[in-house]
Amino acid sequence: MAEQGASRGVTPAASGTVEDVELDLLLEGIQRVYGYDFRNYARASLRRRLWRRVTAEGRVSLAGLLETILHDPQAMERLRVDLSVTVTSMFRDPPFFRSLRERVLPVLATYPFVRVWVAGCASGEEVYSLAILLREEGLADRVRIYATDVSDEILARAQQGRVPLDKMRDYSSSYLEGGGHEGLSQYYEVDGRWAVLDPTLRDGVVFARHNLATDGTFNEFNLILCRNVLIYFDRSLQQRVHRLFDDSLAPLGMLALGARESLVGSGLEDRYEPVDAEVRIYRRMAA
Ligand SMILES: C[S@@+](CC[C@H](N)C(=O)[O-])C[C@H]1O[C@@H](n2cnc3c(N)ncnc32)[C@H](O)[C@@H]1O
Repeated sequence: MAEQGASRGVTPAASGTVEDVELDLLLEGIQRVYGYDFRNYARASLRRRLWRRVTAEGRVSLAGLLETILHDPQAMERLRVDLSVTVTSMFRDPPFFRSLRERVLPVLATYPFVRVWVAGCASGEEVYSLAILLREEGLADRVRIYATDVSDEILARAQQGRVPLDKMRDYSSSYLEGGGHEGLSQYYEVDGRWAVLDPTLRDGVVFARHNLATDGTFNEFNLILCRNVLIYFDRSLQQRVHRLFDDSLAPLGMLALGARESLVGSGLEDRYEPVDAEVRIYRRMAA
């Protein structure tokens, strides 16, 4: 996409191409006018999505998109939806859930009360999967899960606990692959095309809005899950979030990252030891 600015015959400035400048202005404008801060999101995927919206809005440049967005809040809303990657699933990455069950929960079982933060929980499939695991391992009564996301709409969906029925077959096999005991069907009822998850799975769950780019710590946790979120951030925002998690973890607390994420480059590697390096679960060592 960098060629777009150059192809309009403008000599790129030393600090970047015209398209880079337009991108900075667009993100700055969105932040200042609407308060959504995408300035430190990873540029490659952001660019792809922005250019898709440039075309969809009938514009030819990022600067054109900026003009549309500044004068039309509905265009901003359409873009915001485009920029939110909320893909998720139950028991996503089954070896991770197996490891959680076999290596993490036995440690948590030694505590009288456990606080878990699921950051970037999207529509809640990960939270419900964890709640099932906790129930099966006899820990549900003493665990409070704080499930957060930047998007209010997605949190509202998470709270409903409804997933398309046609996905349950895949979820069931992931559940069994992840060490599930019984069969997933005992945890939901069918309502037309929907599987309605057992509402009591939400008993220990608090859903709340939290922006990893701007908000601070709000509790001390024994386990933090943040999977498939940091990949959308640039290095500096990733480092911010790693520091936030470090400030939010109890001594010996555990940090579970996604398959494509790690502590490498966080500057905090020395403070953690792997619980299961394969599935990116780490333990914060005592200070
Ligand atoms: C791909 S989903 C990951 C969902 C789940 N953790 C999983 O692994 O299946 C990424 C989620 O991160 C959320 N997100 C993006 N930017 C965020 C931010 N600045 N603060 C909190 N959540 C954010 C999105 O709204 C989305 O729901």
